[in-house]
Amino acid sequence: MKKRIRKYVFSDMHEIQGYLSPVDALTIAAVLSAQQDNGLTGGIAEIGVFYGRSFFLMQLVANGSDSCFAADLFDIRAHRNIDDQYDQFIKNGRKLGFAVNEEQIYVGDSKFLSADYIRERVGSCRLFHIDGGHHWQHVAVDSQIAMNSMADHGVIVFDDFFNPEWPDVSLAAVDFLTSQRHLKPFAITNRKLYVSKADHVDAYQNWVCSSEFTTKIPRREVNLFDAPVPFLKESLDRKIGFFLLTRYLRGLGANWLY
Ligand SMILES: C[S@@+](CC[C@H](N)C(=O)[O-])C[C@H]1O[C@@H](n2cnc3c(N)ncnc32)[C@H](O)[C@@H]1O
Repeated sequence: MKKRIRKYVFSDMHEIQGYLSPVDALTIAAVLSAQQDNGLTGGIAEIGVFYGRSFFLMQLVANGSDSCFAADLFDIRAHRNIDDQYDQFIKNGRKLGFAVNEEQIYVGDSKFLSADYIRERVGSCRLFHIDGGHHWQHVAVDSQIAMNSMADHGVIVFDDFFNPEWPDVSLAAVDFLTSQRHLKPFAITNRKLYVSKADHVDAYQNWVCSSEFTTKIPRREVNLFDAPVPFLKESLDRKIGFFLLTRYLRGLGANWLY
């Protein structure tokens, strides 16, 4: 299984248009695998699936053990000669061999989505990826939905935290976390913030730092909300190396970088 996940991260996922770096793909794989190894079950949900790059990673790591819920406006028609976003999303899943349960896909604005709706379909969530609208009000709404659908041992992942191109994401995430003191960050990367309930932070930090998926990722401790948090770093030289290897060698050799 580990081999298949690494193949997805270093090769297959680059066939799907989208946004997910190897560091975050491996960190998400580390979180989900650790949950599975420790008997922590629950649904997996994502707001903002786009064409499925991160969604299918999560579905792959879950390996049929838990159900996955997808939400998106599905209204992007960026390319004239390909199917619309929804059809392309389903096709990408089928191409990778995933059965996509269309009852677990929500088409529309997440402001009309509720935690109950998600729980009814996939149960309380062990991982919730917030990657939909990137304005303050979107992240504020999506954070509430994520918190209200999460299992006690659940994790919320905020995409584009500290990305200066999307400053509202950080403002909304900080506003949310300041008002929800029982939730604490347990890891940060160049592009995402990983949060759990305070009493699970030590376990998740330990799992993320000792996972076979993350051993080669450089890290250092940073201070966040008055507590030490591991920063798993996407260094520029690896980024350039990875870009060249995936672009020209279909990911061959990228394995030794991470
Ligand atoms: C950055 S993309 C997500 C990237 C994706 N997770 C990946 O792996 O490539 C953001 C997605 O959020 C969706 N989106 C934007 N605003 C939304 C909203 N209010 N409700 C639901 N989805 C939304 C967009 O349609 C788009 O597909």
